[in-house]
Amino acid sequence: MLYPTELRAHVGTPRRSLILPRYTARAVGDTETVTRPDARYVLIGATGQLGFDLARTFELPGTLLTPPRSELDILDARRMGETLRALRPTHVLNTAAWNAVDAAEDEPRRAFALNAEAVGTLAEACQALGTTLVHFSTDYVFDGAKGAPYTEDDAPNPLGAYGVSKLAGERLARERCGSALVIRVSGLFGVARSAGKDGTNFVETMLRLAREGRPLRVVADQVLGPSYTLDVARAVWRVIASGHTGLCHVTSGGETSWHDFAHEIFRLEGMTPSLTAVSSDEYGARAKRPPYSVLAHRRLGALGIAEPRAWGVALAAYLAERRALNAPARPGSGRRTSG
Ligand SMILES: NC(=O)c1ccc[n+]([C@@H]2O[C@H](COP(=O)([O-])OP(=O)(O)OC[C@H]3O[C@@H](n4cnc5c(N)ncnc54)[C@H](OP(=O)(O)O)[C@@H]3O)[C@@H](O)[C@H]2O)c1
Repeated sequence: MLYPTELRAHVGTPRRSLILPRYTARAVGDTETVTRPDARYVLIGATGQLGFDLARTFELPGTLLTPPRSELDILDARRMGETLRALRPTHVLNTAAWNAVDAAEDEPRRAFALNAEAVGTLAEACQALGTTLVHFSTDYVFDGAKGAPYTEDDAPNPLGAYGVSKLAGERLARERCGSALVIRVSGLFGVARSAGKDGTNFVETMLRLAREGRPLRVVADQVLGPSYTLDVARAVWRVIASGHTGLCHVTSGGETSWHDFAHEIFRLEGMTPSLTAVSSDEYGARAKRPPYSVLAHRRLGALGIAEPRAWGVALAAYLAERRALNAPARPGSGRRTSG
């Protein structure tokens, strides 16, 4: 796995400096996969949490291109079309999203513009170029009433503006691009942290608040599948290599509540902050969230792709990775590693 030397230097500073080499054009030799050696993958959002890990786990035959937002802004339909025509992709991966769940309630138009309308336009452009669109969606398209892991065949029913906009994006992607693959993920944590969530993620927020000595109130009545973007990214490339189109759920294994997730973060870090379990009503977030949004991995199983490791094991690996990145560099130490 490629591990950019830039990463170590910038962890702890705003995540925007975690930038991959501009227009990374990485040609990789044959692997055991069956993908074409002349395939060209355009990754939108390579500075984001999931995008960053997709870029560093790319190992398929072919070339990965990571145009920055300044050159491929999916809200600018004309330039997006021109850039895609120039890049001649066989696959476009779109990780760009408005994922500030509470803010989407106050600014639904902006959430819809990025999560739905721009996806529709992107899907049209991909269809015109004969390109496969790989688009990412969320567990928040479900209402949680099932109370058991949701399969790709379950009917969505989002509770908030974010989920409604993401579901609209899923549908536009599949309606307008015949070969679209929509991958639902959930509860992401990764070393690049989330651009759309003020450059942070749940793990980092918990650690920061605990370090500041703040008493923590975390909801215990919302159960999800927290997911390490490094593991999700590896599985995503396998799904793409399989040629599957339609829906696919990719998350870390297992489930937990946000409260128990926080508890495990502190246990693994040897911290003992004041942590109180609260209900969603007591917490009073702006957006309504599903009480249960765990995604089942039925499609992954059918494709013969192993489910990513359990979220607790993945969390320990993430914490180890961020510790290694924060450790002072030894003079002359190389920066190639695997995760
Ligand atoms: N984060 C979660 O917990 C979570 C949970 C469920 C589903 N998801 C879904 O998973 C996907 C990835 O999430 P993430 O947390 O990795 O996102 P993220 O960290 O917020 O990254 C989004 C990326 O998209 C880029 N971007 C934003 N607007 C753009 C535009 N108009 N044109 C081109 N690029 C643009 C951002 O660039 P800049 O660096 O320039 O801002 C950034 O690189 C999204 O579809 C999200 O809805 C996320």
